[in-house]
Amino acid sequence: MTSDSHLSPADHPLEEDVERVLIDAETLQARIQDLGRDIAETYAGQDLLLLAVLKGSVIFLADLMRAITIPNAVDFMAVSSYGIGVQSTGVVRILKDLDAPIAGRNLLIVEDIIDSGHTLNYLVRMLKERNPATLRVVTLLDKPARREVNIPVDWVGFSIPNEFVIGYGLDYNERYRNLPYIGVLKPDVYTAEE
Ligand code: PRP
Repeated sequence: MTSDSHLSPADHPLEEDVERVLIDAETLQARIQDLGRDIAETYAGQDLLLLAVLKGSVIFLADLMRAITIPNAVDFMAVSSYGIGVQSTGVVRILKDLDAPIAGRNLLIVEDIIDSGHTLNYLVRMLKERNPATLRVVTLLDKPARREVNIPVDWVGFSIPNEFVIGYGLDYNERYRNLPYIGVLKPDVYTAEE
């Protein structure tokens, strides 16, 4: 068992740190079903390889891949862009690469959130060099106000305001990923640590 002095005690209810629910579970599921249907139509009769970017996208991926009713395969990459804290640094490190080559595959990058765009920009450039047949992007959340690098995104679940969001895969210091909705984190949770 580990302890983390940056966080409130393990028995502290997660909900108490949520300022408000931004997107509830039902709204998330309805939108993901729409995305899945649209993606299935786009790739009908074709190969489809989903590339999930760890860790935040895993919950979205789990629901999205079941909403995509055509055959699909999945692979994972782990990258680091934020470090510990709230602000994006623009620095992208590959922590885990794909298991298999992607040349000739239809690659769909699955992200939980696009903020500055640096992570996606880096990934797209790197992956294009591996010659996939096609490369598209789906993100659950988009924060356009924070964009520093413009990058085409094929499917966006929800465009959201510039607030610190947690839940449904998104964390603050590795906590809150298991909340079933997207919530806004109370500012005092992170300002208390700065
Ligand atoms: C998040 C998200 C993207 C990236 C977006 O990952 O999953 O990969 O940040 O930010 P950007 O557009 O400013 O580059 P994060 O580094 O928080 O890692 P995690 O998914 O493991 O929590």
